[in-house]
Amino acid sequence: MQNAVEIVRVRPDDLIEDFSAQAAALLQELVARGAALGWTCPPSAAEVNSLLRGVVEASSEGDGCLVAAWQRSKLLGLGYWTRYARPTHSPHVDIEKIAVAPESQGQRIGQLMMHELLQAARDTRTEVVTLDLRGDNTRAIALYESLGFQRYGMLPRFVAFGENRYDKLFYALDLREGPA
Ligand SMILES: CC(C)(COP(=O)(O)OP(=O)(O)OC[C@H]1O[C@@H](n2cnc3c(N)ncnc32)[C@H](O)[C@@H]1OP(=O)(O)O)[C@@H](O)C(=O)NCCC(=O)NCCS
Repeated sequence: MQNAVEIVRVRPDDLIEDFSAQAAALLQELVARGAALGWTCPPSAAEVNSLLRGVVEASSEGDGCLVAAWQRSKLLGLGYWTRYARPTHSPHVDIEKIAVAPESQGQRIGQLMMHELLQAARDTRTEVVTLDLRGDNTRAIALYESLGFQRYGMLPRFVAFGENRYDKLFYALDLREGPA
């Protein structure tokens, strides 16, 4: 099982520089290829480091979860959720990003990371998991719907990428309705 992919939750002590550098390189490559991850140009390594540190620090209080997909010492993917800060929304979390390296896509790594993110949400007694995405991201739509996420809204032509406009889709999974 030397080449097995391992899905782990990143702990505060784990956020070593190598992880952060690999995460930045992965996200930069995806964004440079046009991935719908919220950036219009590749994020700096410092921005990614600060973002991921914030999620991992929140995880010690159950308010965040960062998962990583490793194959030996190579990072193949990452994803995270954070808990809503608004007190009336605090039972709920939002999956903000999930990303798999281009050469590793279509091998169920995204699905495995989503299962881990959802298990972490259940472990922290989360009630509803939300996410949103760009309307042309058909692979992500298929992944989320296969896990039971239901579309609850759409903002037409909301996502701005240069002169282009894309629909923004809103999805939710109610964990109170039983296991997905
Ligand atoms: C979206 C993403 C995270 C999915 O991860 P992945 O590891 O490639 O996906 P998986 O292999 O786990 O496949 C999950 C589902 O996606 C769909 N899928 C996978 N490969 C596909 C392909 N080549 N074409 C179309 N759909 C595909 C399938 O529905 C699959 O489930 P099924 O085979 O049981 O039907 C990944 O493609 C990615 O990082 N994309 C770029 C960044 C991004 O768009 N992130 C999401 C932002 S909301």
